[in-house]
Amino acid sequence: MSAQLNNLLILMCRTISTRKLYFADHPTVTQLTRKFIDELKQFCDAAGLETLFIGIVDGELVFEGKHLVGPTIIGAQFIDAATTLKSGGISFDANTPASEFAQFLSLITELTEPPGDLNAARTLLSTHGITHIKLGQRFKESATPLLKEEQDIWRGQESDKMLSSPALIYQMLFDTVAQAHNNALTGGAVDLDHTRSITEFMLKRSTGNFSDMMQQVHYPDFEGYTIGHSVRVAALAVFMANAFGWHEDVQLEVGSAALLHDIGKSGIPHNVLYKPGRLSKEEFAIMMAHPRIGAEILLAQDSSTKLDVAIAWGHHIRHDGDGYPEQPQWAVRHPITSLLRVCDAFEALTAVRPYKPPLTPHTAFSVMLNDPGAFNPAILASFITILGLYPPGTMVKLSDTSAGIVTAAGTTIDRPTVRVTTTPNNEPIPARDQYELNLSTLETREVAIVELILPRPPKEGQLV
Ligand SMILES: [Fe+2]
Ligand SMILES: [Fe+2]
Repeated sequence: MSAQLNNLLILMCRTISTRKLYFADHPTVTQLTRKFIDELKQFCDAAGLETLFIGIVDGELVFEGKHLVGPTIIGAQFIDAATTLKSGGISFDANTPASEFAQFLSLITELTEPPGDLNAARTLLSTHGITHIKLGQRFKESATPLLKEEQDIWRGQESDKMLSSPALIYQMLFDTVAQAHNNALTGGAVDLDHTRSITEFMLKRSTGNFSDMMQQVHYPDFEGYTIGHSVRVAALAVFMANAFGWHEDVQLEVGSAALLHDIGKSGIPHNVLYKPGRLSKEEFAIMMAHPRIGAEILLAQDSSTKLDVAIAWGHHIRHDGDGYPEQPQWAVRHPITSLLRVCDAFEALTAVRPYKPPLTPHTAFSVMLNDPGAFNPAILASFITILGLYPPGTMVKLSDTSAGIVTAAGTTIDRPTVRVTTTPNNEPIPARDQYELNLSTLETREVAIVELILPRPPKEGQLV
């Protein structure tokens, strides 16, 4: 139950933050709104609830007396909304119509003057025709205090598991990058401290979870590509920096700089940025401005580092000095920029897009190796060795017809460790019974990877 609730809350907060970025009729907003309403209904039906009430106590989300520590971090949007509406929580009727939730989203994101008290806020909702979403009193005034043991259950193991949920980490990174791009677009300050603290969170929490996080790559829409791409590039870069044995502080710097490497794309017109297919010569020239724009945006921020700026500026400059923006041949490139360049190209080649299938890692490696001068050869060679033919996060079919997710590279390039997730009869194995198979050992020498299962581009209408 906690996992479904966790996902529902993530979805709600995602919908609120997306609504903050776009106008009400934007297809992404309407699709997310509908999805939330559907999942709300499913959740309530499964839990036997007529309404879902999420309360807030001391700035933390609470459901049925239990603190939801994981969602509280990402749930800042929800907490803000409830607090602005002077309430201690919000209840959603299981049958809330999508149009009402859309109304509610507009109300909380466009509110210029917060209501004076809870009654005024309730009147505001009803004058907007919102009757299935209700505001609760402050928890402290109305509810019995939580039992200490109840709090501990959620603050202990369970909450820790939630915090390490790859979906949650991915979502937090996604929202952070989306917010940064939007702030850059509207000329606001980019919160680099926040980017760094989220990266730190990823570093601390994603140990052993890297492969699952890479599986979370869902590009919800065209706009999502740039953001999803940045998150994947950052995850890859941190994974490599860790494998290279770089100091934790450097890993943190690499990760946060990587998250914002394409922030200059916020200055590229949408018809060019989201054009499905090949760009014309003129359009490509416009696109080529994004490293310069990005470096300028970051230079203007008080707390940006040299590395943030260098990566935004230099990630399209080839190892042989060609590429863009133009710079003197004698300029020295930092090894971290070279690493970023490799991660950037690899991600773009292996990613799913609605208009192109992903390349296998093997094909992507050959494309990269067949362009001498494009990448720092030492970094590219280590990258290939460390990731292997089956990078962590990829789905594979094994010779005994079971399937699984690669979790770590092996001692040889084609024999990684695989977490088996499906039986030979193609039946999914529940998470607690899944097991790891290290293909680099003697005992597993009979088993081999026979196929790489590539993600498919989403069909139209499945974009959320
Ligand atoms: Fe770029
Ligand atoms: Fe990029």
